Amino acid sequence: EKQKWCIHQSLYEFHGFWFTKAYLETTKRVVETFKPLPTDVILASFPKTGTTWLKALLYSITHRSPHDDTVLTLNHPQELVPSLETNLYVRKRDGETLLHDDVAKKGRILATHAPHQILQDALNSCDCKIVYVTRNPKDTLVSLWHFLQKSKEFEDDPWELEAAVDQFCNGIVPFGPYYDHVLGYREESLSKPHKVLFVTYEELKENPRVHVKRLGEFLGCPFLGESGEEQAEKIVKLCSFEVLSNQEINKSTEFPDSGFPLPYNSFFRRGEVGDHFSCLGDDMIQKIDGVTTLKFHASG
Ligand code: A3P
Repeated sequence: EKQKWCIHQSLYEFHGFWFTKAYLETTKRVVETFKPLPTDVILASFPKTGTTWLKALLYSITHRSPHDDTVLTLNHPQELVPSLETNLYVRKRDGETLLHDDVAKKGRILATHAPHQILQDALNSCDCKIVYVTRNPKDTLVSLWHFLQKSKEFEDDPWELEAAVDQFCNGIVPFGPYYDHVLGYREESLSKPHKVLFVTYEELKENPRVHVKRLGEFLGCPFLGESGEEQAEKIVKLCSFEVLSNQEINKSTEFPDSGFPLPYNSFFRRGEVGDHFSCLGDDMIQKIDGVTTLKFHASG
């Protein structure tokens, strides 16, 4: 099934989720060929829920070095933690898939926006760890709306906020429905807590140190003793929106190698909780709240 999404692009349905043509192709390739290793950490998320932040955090937590703070000053988080469907399983011009040797080694962290319902066979094929981050749906939608407004694909066709709210509520946005995406990983985290850790953007914002330590524990690299506390605090600071968004590499207007249609600086905007109040009207808020209650009520 195909639905017109903006003037230039349609979204395509695949197992109940919606994809742009390019992501449909790469997601199918991921589903067909990706084989996680037991040592992998998979960062899963719906777009705009804090993926970039978690990329920086997971990399820092697992590669922590008390003497080297430079990795996040020299590399965009997207380079440190590649995404399966946007960086790795895209085809190069010669038609070859880009899953190169250095990501086929132990201890890799790989990100994906693919829903659990689609990727479950691969994810359940071994004991890899999964961290899923999610965010308040209204802030997620507002972040997505700003992000896509900047995309070249929308140049002659502004995505009206009202249309965006409707499409978000109906689930017809890239990798949507958001609600099914969240529930897929949520259910898995409840039935397999040793394998899937479910984190929210809001709880990380409210108490980052506690959740950085929780992530360390889950990934088998806990922060122990006084020096552990200091390390956790240092990681919180280095990965904070204020510090990360001001790194030259992250302010760059260059485009990532993968052919992604937006520059590096587009992954950092405001980084706040509750930003939807700045642009959603009461009727829009009510509409999204209604759908959220309907979809999430049963799961608590
Ligand atoms: P806003 O558009 O609300 O500012 P993703 O990485 O999944 O694409 O999500 C992007 C959102 O996370 C953007 O939200 C971005 O500003 C925010 N973000 C990026 N880095 C962050 C950080 N270190 N701390 C908090 N939020 C961050």
